[in-house]
Amino acid sequence: MRGKTGKASSSLKAKLGFPIVFLLCVFFFLVGFFGSTLIAQVEEFSGDGRPRGRVLESNEREYYLLPAGETGDDSITTIPFQVLSWNPRALYFPNFATAEQCESIISMAEPGLRPSSLALRKGETEESTKGIRTSSGVFISASEDKTGVLDVIEEKIARATMIPRTHGEAFNILRYELDQRYNSHYDAFSSTEYGPQKSQRVASFLLYLSDVQEGGETMFPFENGLNMNGNYDFEECIGLKVKPQKGDGLLFYSLFPNGTIDPTSLHGSCPVIRGEKWVATKWIRDQEQDD
Ligand SMILES: *[C@@H]1O[C@H](CO)[C@@H](O)[C@H](O)[C@H]1NC(C)=O
Repeated sequence: MRGKTGKASSSLKAKLGFPIVFLLCVFFFLVGFFGSTLIAQVEEFSGDGRPRGRVLESNEREYYLLPAGETGDDSITTIPFQVLSWNPRALYFPNFATAEQCESIISMAEPGLRPSSLALRKGETEESTKGIRTSSGVFISASEDKTGVLDVIEEKIARATMIPRTHGEAFNILRYELDQRYNSHYDAFSSTEYGPQKSQRVASFLLYLSDVQEGGETMFPFENGLNMNGNYDFEECIGLKVKPQKGDGLLFYSLFPNGTIDPTSLHGSCPVIRGEKWVATKWIRDQEQDD
């Protein structure tokens, strides 16, 4: 096969003569070179003005499957993500869920919404903590959801984190209306503040169910050690901010690999300025949950 094409191309070369072949080569090289940079420039910004990123490992390449174990897959999955930070360990998953999945979660949550509550520290009361968390929410487990959407999302979160589904709490689906917020806090429970815990929250996965026109960012005020001088007011919306966008996911770890609380995992929800924010939260624990 190889010999044949070799012969064919050399006889072609002989007919056309060297200069023409050379010029053709130059021509196609230039077309390819400038053509691709032109396309790359066009793609740099999306419609809403956000910079567009490239997928670092090309989807074009072929993958070869390995024989999987009993519980493994017989296919390759790609779940794109961007590392937002190592302090705290935070990952962004663009387009984690579809718009239809988000809408279906909102409509199943809406009838059950109640004002969100807080885990109270020693000495705190519902009255004394008023205003810290002003959203409404409802807990729904994947098994309660007859549409099967939460089941699909929960499975995908388990695959993205490689932490089994049995370690997740039920989804907490939250709505933040105008001006509603959640002051900065930790998802993990320090035993000095909350007493001994049966299990600890390792990571949190937030699935944004709506776009928010303005405000409503998830913020990490202590990102990479920023603002940790003791003067931070827990209402301030500063630091690393993640803009909610329908269908996008955000995963962050509250614990270091050694199991102690990562102080930079402090986070909150900035007040919604325009629009409404819906988010489904999955807290993932170090122990299996009875569900
Ligand atoms: C746990 O890990 C963190 C981050 O690597 C480190 O700063 C801390 O000292 C460790 N704590 C213990 C008790 O090992």
